[in-house]
Amino acid sequence: MLKKTVEDLCNRQIEREGYSSNLYLAMASWAETSGLSGVAAWLYSQADEERIHMLKFIRYINERGGKAVIPVIKKPGEEYKSVEELFREVLKHEEFITGSINEIVALTLEEKDFNTQNFLQWFVMEQVEEEASAKLILDKVKLVGKTNMYEFDRDISGLRRVSPATPAT
Ligand SMILES: [Fe+2]
Ligand SMILES: [Fe+2]
Repeated sequence: MLKKTVEDLCNRQIEREGYSSNLYLAMASWAETSGLSGVAAWLYSQADEERIHMLKFIRYINERGGKAVIPVIKKPGEEYKSVEELFREVLKHEEFITGSINEIVALTLEEKDFNTQNFLQWFVMEQVEEEASAKLILDKVKLVGKTNMYEFDRDISGLRRVSPATPAT
């Protein structure tokens, strides 16, 4: 049985993973309408993954005798000045999510909830990967001037992890 304190933070994470998914969808939509189909493909595939993260929390809470609450998700921004600004936001957001996951891990240690602590290890590792890939793309985007954006966009498409719900480009 989940302790209420742990359940509450896991429910908070449902909202944060759901927001991550919507944030990346909004970013994908901006990229797609800005002629950046490779960046859009990468972001659509990220959005799919974030939805899976949200589902993992929903299923875990319910499986442990808690009650997953499906939240209202706030509206993400619609406009970005540049691809660099967009990926700066992605990295900042992933760092925020890492902090959020770490807070739950810290609570599970305090509460001696080793089952949830074990469940969270997947997310701890995932965040290492998420931050690294956001940082890699941000570093790349800093290297390209506007003239090379076409090639950059094409390269980014190849960096996404394959997800069945992502339309092929
Ligand atoms: Fe996530
Ligand atoms: Fe993420």
